[in-house]
Amino acid sequence: MKTDNLQKLRADRIWLTEDSCDIDDFRAQAERTTSLADYPNAASVEKNVLIYDSRKVRASIAEVDGKRTILAEICEAFADGPGVVVFAGAYEDTDVIDRASAIFENIIAEQHRSSTGGGDHFAKAGANDRIWNSLEKHCLADPENFAEYYGNPIIALASQAWLGPSYQMTAQVNRVNPGGAAQSAHRDYHLGFQSSEVIQQFPAHVHKLSPVLTLQGAVAHCDMPLESGPTLFLPHSQAYVPGYLALKRPEFRAYFDENHVQLPLRKGDVVFFNPALFHAAGTNRSADIKRVANLLQVSSAFGRAMETVDRQRMSATLFPALKKLKNKLSPSETVNAIAACAEGYSFPTNLDRDPPVGGMAPKTQAQLMSEALAAGWSHAAFEQALSDLAEKKLS
Ligand SMILES: [Fe+2]
Repeated sequence: MKTDNLQKLRADRIWLTEDSCDIDDFRAQAERTTSLADYPNAASVEKNVLIYDSRKVRASIAEVDGKRTILAEICEAFADGPGVVVFAGAYEDTDVIDRASAIFENIIAEQHRSSTGGGDHFAKAGANDRIWNSLEKHCLADPENFAEYYGNPIIALASQAWLGPSYQMTAQVNRVNPGGAAQSAHRDYHLGFQSSEVIQQFPAHVHKLSPVLTLQGAVAHCDMPLESGPTLFLPHSQAYVPGYLALKRPEFRAYFDENHVQLPLRKGDVVFFNPALFHAAGTNRSADIKRVANLLQVSSAFGRAMETVDRQRMSATLFPALKKLKNKLSPSETVNAIAACAEGYSFPTNLDRDPPVGGMAPKTQAQLMSEALAAGWSHAAFEQALSDLAEKKLS
């Protein structure tokens, strides 16, 4: 092979461009059929999307072997399967959801009163209401409800299945009011939030890396019939590697408009999807449904989350609530709540002041919180230890 051919082929492999996106290659991926037989723990396949019965999942993950089996199954559903999974009835007790909804309503009302809350990158002013960083605001407003809400085993299961341990939870509430328009088809963070000009500067392996750095989820806070506009998905579209660039081309957008699917959700259902899946929120054509979802964006321990979260302040607030709920939450629910709140990864840190002890990685906020709970520390002692840990990490 001539050298110039070799170099051209190599450059085409590494530098993906809008022009190199091919709709037939894309269709070969997006037109695959999800087979229920490949996912023995799933209850059904609807419109090419996998549906799990959360009660059955909860029973299976109580066994160690059952948990590893389901983690593997869900991981592949996100990677090579449809890329989107609905966990029906993820919240058995929807009172937990209702109490969270009341907290969110108060926050939205306060944002209106004080004209704060910022904008929305997708919607016109007034068509919807957003609570950015609902994670921290929820925790500070009602740490007991936060503990029950994020103690949920399905949220932890899906996060762990895709990202492994030490993930970083973030969340935003989106309330789409009647008449609120659909979003345009997109992929999510990281590369999904960049222009083609920027995306084209990253080599092909980073296009494959971006989807494994986050997981997208949504907790349904109300029943969402189709007319209320639940999210539009294109199953299997996450598998098309140049998809971040393809979405800028009209034939791909047209394909999404003609072929997307939409599933009604019930209050307490949770949907999780690969951030590279083509998707968009739907139009709310209902007369009176304010469609409320808490959107979870879970980041890998190794990625940079999109939002800043004051996890020290959250941990200090959550600690006494977890002590109070000791007999109400199971040990694994407590672990899940801590994982959604505290920093679960050791780095970055200042290795002069925070050297590795008894291993390669210094202690994390989450480890500190678990130890303090187990040892029955006072709130004041825990706050002091949190502050000492934060101090050690400063350069
Ligand atoms: Fe999105």
